[in-house]
Amino acid sequence: ALQLTLAVIKPDGVAHPLMLEALHQKILDNSFAIVRCKDLVWRRQDSEKFYIEHAGRFFYQRLVEFMSSGPMRAYVLAREDAVSHWRELMGPTKVFQARHTSPATIRAQYGLTDTRNTTHGSDSSESARREILYFFPEFGMEEWMEKE
Ligand code: CMP
Repeated sequence: ALQLTLAVIKPDGVAHPLMLEALHQKILDNSFAIVRCKDLVWRRQDSEKFYIEHAGRFFYQRLVEFMSSGPMRAYVLAREDAVSHWRELMGPTKVFQARHTSPATIRAQYGLTDTRNTTHGSDSSESARREILYFFPEFGMEEWMEKE
């Protein structure tokens, strides 16, 4: 079914212009419609709040710091099974595992470490709803779905 997902190019992916360009092209090449796109910078508290479910994990502080370290690009993407397709393109969270098991994925090709792993994608349509609202509070998701 037609689905929306939230995709984010993290600060490591935005910092390198060629990487940003390649990732944007990958979105287009994979038949996603770009419904919304914006560049933004998080304050530390935006980062803490978004990743609150990871509070207390050993990587939480470095994750929070990294995600508020510079500009990001966020997308609302639409296509058939958008959530799982974007996650397939990203590959496993852990970059070294990604390189081993799925070398053609974004994280395998561009990721630097398990924290600096280039992209984020919602893990379910419920997360997508919540995360789209977090990044694009002005976006009328219900209305958009009805229009299609
Ligand atoms: P993301 O898909 O944005 O969701 C949570 C983030 O936490 C993840 O990508 C990584 O950036 C980070 N993360 C998850 N697991 C680890 C880990 N084991 N070590 C370091 N960072 C991690």
